[in-house]
Amino acid sequence: MRTIPLLQVALDFTSLPRALAMALKVADEVDIIEAGTPLCKAVGVEIVHALRELFPNKLILADFKTPDVGGLEAQMAFDAGADMMTVIGGAPLATIESALQVAHQRGKEILVELTGVRDILARAQEWRAIGVERLVYHRGWDEQAAHREWSTYDLDLIRELIAMGFRVTVTGGITVDLLALFRGLPLSIIIAGRAIHQSPDPAGAARQMREAIARLWGNAV
Ligand code: 5RP
Repeated sequence: MRTIPLLQVALDFTSLPRALAMALKVADEVDIIEAGTPLCKAVGVEIVHALRELFPNKLILADFKTPDVGGLEAQMAFDAGADMMTVIGGAPLATIESALQVAHQRGKEILVELTGVRDILARAQEWRAIGVERLVYHRGWDEQAAHREWSTYDLDLIRELIAMGFRVTVTGGITVDLLALFRGLPLSIIIAGRAIHQSPDPAGAARQMREAIARLWGNAV
């Protein structure tokens, strides 16, 4: 079956008005709106409430990158209206399990974020065993600043994770020009932040990205 990845915009702002203004500009051009980690820390869960109120029919992800207190933070995200939330991959299994449990009770989803995880394949087996379905494969901001480029190592690892049965999101400095690198991988979601909101025309940038995804993945299989 042909899988066309969804496009998620990451709102990595530290101000609620700026984040909402950007969300209003790009919402029609993306599939998922993400309350970014700095935004959740600066504004609190209020940002998720605000996004849900503005966009009742849109998928919303709270990028908490939760390291502990998984059940409570999952509950906070879902109570505020999120469809999905993230738990950091370095978290103990107990944290991931407790977030998963709340997600299952609520018919929502959690994603395990791989930032900083070194032994990804070994940990992935443990996550699979407890029922994790979604992973976020991330080239973090600080790694980008330290010149980490996407490589065949990343692509091979992502392929292995998909073969293990995970639905994989990819993020980290993704631009329209980088999309072709991932062509052929049945990704679930692609996240772009700065490539969209730092563009002079954020809606146009998001549209261009979604069109490129449709073109690349629509012809991929
Ligand atoms: C930072 C994040 C960002 O949301 C993610 O990296 C996407 O942003 P960009 O496309 O600007 O790199 O999770 O921790």
